[in-house]
Amino acid sequence: MTDTPDLFGPVKLGALTLPNRIVMAPMTRSRAPGNLPNALMAEYYGQRASAGLIVTEGTTPSANGRGYIDIPGIYSEAQVEGWRAVADAVHAKGGRIFAQLMHVGRISLPEFQDGAEPVAPSAVAAAGQMYTPSGMKPLVTPRALTEAEIEQLIEAYAQAARNAVAAGLDGIEIHGANGYLPGQFLAPNANQRTDRWGGSGENRARFLVAITDAAAKAIGADRVGVRLSPGNPFNDIDDPDVEGTYTPVIQGISGKGLAYVHFLDAKPAFDVIGLARKHFGGPIILNAGYDKARAQADIASGRADLIAFGSSYISNPDLVERLQQDAPLNAPDQTTFYGGDAKGYTDYPKLAA
Ligand SMILES: Cc1cc2nc3c(=O)[nH]c(=O)nc-3n(C[C@H](O)[C@H](O)[C@H](O)COP(=O)(O)O)c2cc1C
Repeated sequence: MTDTPDLFGPVKLGALTLPNRIVMAPMTRSRAPGNLPNALMAEYYGQRASAGLIVTEGTTPSANGRGYIDIPGIYSEAQVEGWRAVADAVHAKGGRIFAQLMHVGRISLPEFQDGAEPVAPSAVAAAGQMYTPSGMKPLVTPRALTEAEIEQLIEAYAQAARNAVAAGLDGIEIHGANGYLPGQFLAPNANQRTDRWGGSGENRARFLVAITDAAAKAIGADRVGVRLSPGNPFNDIDDPDVEGTYTPVIQGISGKGLAYVHFLDAKPAFDVIGLARKHFGGPIILNAGYDKARAQADIASGRADLIAFGSSYISNPDLVERLQQDAPLNAPDQTTFYGGDAKGYTDYPKLAA
């Protein structure tokens, strides 16, 4: 390794040494009918194996974490078998892949829950709508989890982490960003609990820290990453005190030997990334809106250790090679982001050999 970090040079992440600092960001593609990973998904991820690390689309650790159309799960044997084919396809091409564990909490509808109400920290609906097979529908008021159910969910995350490793995946990322279940616990407008899971910043951080610790205990901290989006209002999150919320989060995930922390950087008033740099003790991945020049600048300055690319990875399976060669990028087609088949998924061309 050279002294000056290089976007196209190796970096250690947990027990892995990645050949470059380019990460494929987690992206839901809604192509897993029956919540089962399939051969088309294995092909898609295999095509992107030159990434330093692939983080899969949001994958639910439990049946009640489902939302959106056709997202994969990782709680049944059949799902584990499906993920094994994905892991094998990526490893056969020399890549590395973490599964993103995403429980959507209140961002769901009864029709994705076998008719039951979605679960959340509190019975507070998010403003917004969700796409369903029969059109857009408003989000509903969820049912507040009991403390016993919270404990069951923590174990579900641990089991999902074990399942990921059993499937041959290299690790997991806890999705603590974008207002899904852990993000709902963090946010005072979505979490109105008065027990030890709500109220103070420390209490609101407890669920995120507990699922991270449980996953780390299950498969080793060096296989567990965490994604956060401080200050991001997506999914009707309103957090007037980012410092008060995220200081206990960073404290709770620091010094434990986790594989990485991954920020969707909305540049909140309080510098959470600076706080993580001081205390976390492991690699920091930054994301959102990066091009090669900005990625190189943030790596060179030490602000980030790795950079995650989202939409450009949808349309450029060989993004690493294209960035390295300053080759033009294919433009992503937004109409095929969610759902459908191979079109807009596995048919984006690589550079001619
Ligand atoms: C189609 C699509 C699906 C996404 N799904 C997820 C997801 O499942 N989990 C997640 O953490 N972020 C998700 N994101 C956000 C991306 O990981 C990333 O943060 C975003 O695209 C910004 O990065 P970019 O500017 O490089 O595209 C999704 C983004 C897109 C475009």
